[in-house]
Amino acid sequence: MKKCEHLAIIMDGNGRWAKAQGLPRSAGHLAGADNVRTIAIAASELGIRYLTIYAFSTENWKRSKDEVSYLMKLPAVFFEKYMQEFVDRGFRINIIGEMEELPASTAAVLRNAMARSAANTGLQLNIAMNYGAHREIILAARRYAEDVKNGIVQNDIDEEGFERYLMTADMPPVDYLIRTSGEQRISNYLLWQIAYAELCFVPESWPEFTPEVLRRCMEEYEHRDRRFGGVTNE
Ligand code: IPE
Ligand code: IPE
Ligand code: MG
Repeated sequence: MKKCEHLAIIMDGNGRWAKAQGLPRSAGHLAGADNVRTIAIAASELGIRYLTIYAFSTENWKRSKDEVSYLMKLPAVFFEKYMQEFVDRGFRINIIGEMEELPASTAAVLRNAMARSAANTGLQLNIAMNYGAHREIILAARRYAEDVKNGIVQNDIDEEGFERYLMTADMPPVDYLIRTSGEQRISNYLLWQIAYAELCFVPESWPEFTPEVLRRCMEEYEHRDRRFGGVTNE
């Protein structure tokens, strides 16, 4: 199998899926959260080491108060249902995004999930919560500037050096990015990390994205010719 260490997913289409069933948007988010467990297990079984999922963007605060509040309560429901299983499977939970701006109770749930699984060595499930790539890069630049000012580092940073200031420090770059629900855009996700990722856009909404669809996407990945600017001799 072609190496895919790091898979990123933009889980889109929960709202449209719910609407099509005559359900409120919140029902789509709940079904979507359940699907995170299903796909994390499937990804782990496919040998993927890092799965980074987009749960809430820095732009998603624009949604109605009710929807935002529902999304902020979902992590508690999600981890209450599945945390024990994740621990049993050796999954390590990690959060990327600005947790300081989340409601205190949401941040506490997320910190607890990270702490409970910190020593695990199986699939690393990165959940992007209040994450935006522009914000991530700005925060990294600020921290770097601060370190230069304090004489901790020289002003001679390279790509590898800069990566250490990102929220994905110590992770490999994204190999494959999948977006569900037909939209063909990046929506401020992992802009640095996807520099050479292969991209895959599927029509299925996130609640409809089954392990079978994931396998189909991975099969497609197998046939991609990753050149990284070089030339392949075929
Ligand atoms: C993705 O589904 C979940 C989040 C962005 C939180 P959406 O809520 O964006 O669903 P659509 O795109 O409106 O159908
Ligand atoms: C991207 O989906 C963010 C998440 C999946 C959390 P959106 O539904 O917010 O993206 P746009 O607004 O359609 O670009
Ligand atoms: Mg959407």
